[in-house]
This record gives sequence, structure tokens and C-alpha cells, in this order.
Amino acid sequence: MALDAALNIFRAIGEETRLRIMALLSRGELTVSEITAILGQSQPRVSRHLKILADAGLAERHREAAWMFYRLAEHGGGNPSVRAVLAVVTEIARADDRVLARDGERFEQARQARAAQAAAYFEANAKEWNRLRRLHLPEHDIESRMTALVGDKDIGLFVDLGTGTGRMLEIFAARYQSAVGYDLSHEMLAIARANLDQAGITHAQARHGDLFSLPLEAHSADVVCLHQVLHYLAEPGAAVHEAARLLKPAGRLIISDFAPHELEFLREEHAHRRLGFSDDEVRDWCAAAGLQVERVETLSPAPSDREKLTVKIWLCAAGQRRPEARSRKAA
Ligand SMILES: C[S@@+](CC[C@H](N)C(=O)[O-])C[C@H]1O[C@@H](n2cnc3c(N)ncnc32)[C@H](O)[C@@H]1O
Repeated sequence: MALDAALNIFRAIGEETRLRIMALLSRGELTVSEITAILGQSQPRVSRHLKILADAGLAERHREAAWMFYRLAEHGGGNPSVRAVLAVVTEIARADDRVLARDGERFEQARQARAAQAAAYFEANAKEWNRLRRLHLPEHDIESRMTALVGDKDIGLFVDLGTGTGRMLEIFAARYQSAVGYDLSHEMLAIARANLDQAGITHAQARHGDLFSLPLEAHSADVVCLHQVLHYLAEPGAAVHEAARLLKPAGRLIISDFAPHELEFLREEHAHRRLGFSDDEVRDWCAAAGLQVERVETLSPAPSDREKLTVKIWLCAAGQRRPEARSRKAA
């Protein structure tokens, strides 16, 4: 039995394309069509290889509407042999090899193209963002629930990741001593600054920065906020990791995003990558970053409001074992 299981793993990994796929997945989660484009092989062929890797417990998949995502099996799926193979794959992926290096370059190009696509969307829609945000959200409820969940306790430093037009900086302004909101889009930041000026908020700043790697000291923030940002990112877990790095020992992370949904057009028309998140997925990212989900709220739209989606708010508390080192993953 153990012999069969081990053979299964080694047969799965013992083929060039599959080893290349594993090396790619060690760099981050990918969709089937991204893997197909990077390898330059046909989709049925790539899907066959992926199935073999998933059946051997080396890769995990999850479907969201039309897209199928693959990643390396988390913690080797609890199987020490898989864990050992994954460690080797991660090393091989960085080895000095022409084919793997080219795959790695294509992975980076795919990642950059994705980020550029989302950035272009935000540049084009910055002025419209406050209206667009309301299209699918019961906004007022969320904002009042978020401020209620965070509570009255004094907030020294509030950090808003992917601040956009700075809305979170505005609604929490009465609670914090100082705040900084980071965003990659200069257009969004210009609007955020204008909004803060207009609201007379002088103790918050909108800064250019990549939320995966921020120029802030570890353990410096009392509250970190990720409001309607994670579903644009290729590595939402890495964003949670960076948020955790910023939190003080008793700090809290507040995340608001969609519950799982099937509105595929949000990908094509509004640059969404993920169609919402389950509680388990958020819990797993938090646990991996040393955070604990303390409260979960679900805000469902009225049955008559078909355009709106269910929104979740996760309030997470910092624990003792949290990341010190910077993470660097791109959107
Ligand atoms: C949907 S908007 C949300 C803005 C704001 N949190 C809100 O709720 O109104 C997402 C924002 O995340 C920003 N963003 C995406 N990837 C980012 C990254 N890697 N670093 C910083 N900001 C990023 C986008 O530019 C965009 O302004």
C-alpha cells in the first residue's frame, strides 16, 4: 500500500511536462489556461497532466465558474512523501536550467500581464469607482458593520491596503490617530487625496505602494483593512500574510469581500480574478499567517436586489507566531 502510494507519486512527477508544471505551481497558483499558455501545449494535454498530479495528491484544484485553479497541495495534503517531493520541486524550480528558467520568465510575464490588466481597469475607472463599488454591494450596511466590528477601542495606526479612492480611510477617520492607505494606481490615489482633503481629514495619507511588500515596519499597525481587494489578486493569501506582518501583537485585520458567487462577467468586465471566498479559505490564509478569525458577518442583499452579491466581513486577531520577513508576491 505504502509502496503503491509512493510509486504513484513518483510516476506522477517523473515526466518532464508534469515536473515543469509542478515547478510553475511552486511559484504560485495558476489557472489551466495560464499553464497552457506558459507551456505552449494544448489544453487537453495540460489538463490530463494536471489530473495525474491532482490524483497523486501533489496538486490541488478548485473550480470557480468557468475557471479551474491549480496550486501545490497545501502542507503536502498531510502526506510526508508528498511534502518531501514538494520541497524538492521547489528547489528544482530555482535551479540553473534553461527550460525551467524560461518557464519562470513566462510565469512572471503572465503575472505582470494580469497585474497590468487590473491596473488598466482601475486607471480607466478611478473616477467612476465610488459608483462601481455600489453596483454589487449593500454599501452602507457594510461600512456600519465594519466600524461596529472594529469597535471603540483607540486605533493608533490604521493601514488600508488597496485603498482605492480612500473610502476606508474616511469611514474610520474618527477612530484612528493616524492612517496610511496604499495603492498601486496613481489615478485612484489622486482621487483618494482629493476625497481626504474634501472631508477635512488631515491625519491620513494616501501613498503609492504594493500591498505585497510595504515600506512599513513589522508590528506597527493596530488595524489593517482589506476592503474589496482580495478578489483582484492572484495570491490573496500573500496579501493576508503581509497584513499579518504589519500588525501589532493585539492588532486586528478586517477583511471584507464577496462570498462565493458565479458572476463570471465580473472577470471580463471588471478585472475580478476570484469569484468570492469561502470562510474556510480565509481561515486557512489567516492560520498560515498566524491570525485567528474571531468574527464572521454575512450581509446578504434583499431578494429583490438581484444585482447585488452577498458580502462577508472577517475580523481577525493577531496571535503570537506571525511573519517577520517580507513576503513578495505580485498581483
Ligand atoms: C476594488 S478597489 C478597492 C478600493 C477600496 N479598498 C474600496 O473598497 O473602495 C481595489 C484597489 O486595489 C488596488 N490594488 C490592486 N493590486 C494592488 C497591489 N498589489 N498593491 C496595492 N494596491 C493594489 C487597485 O489599484 C484598486 O484601487
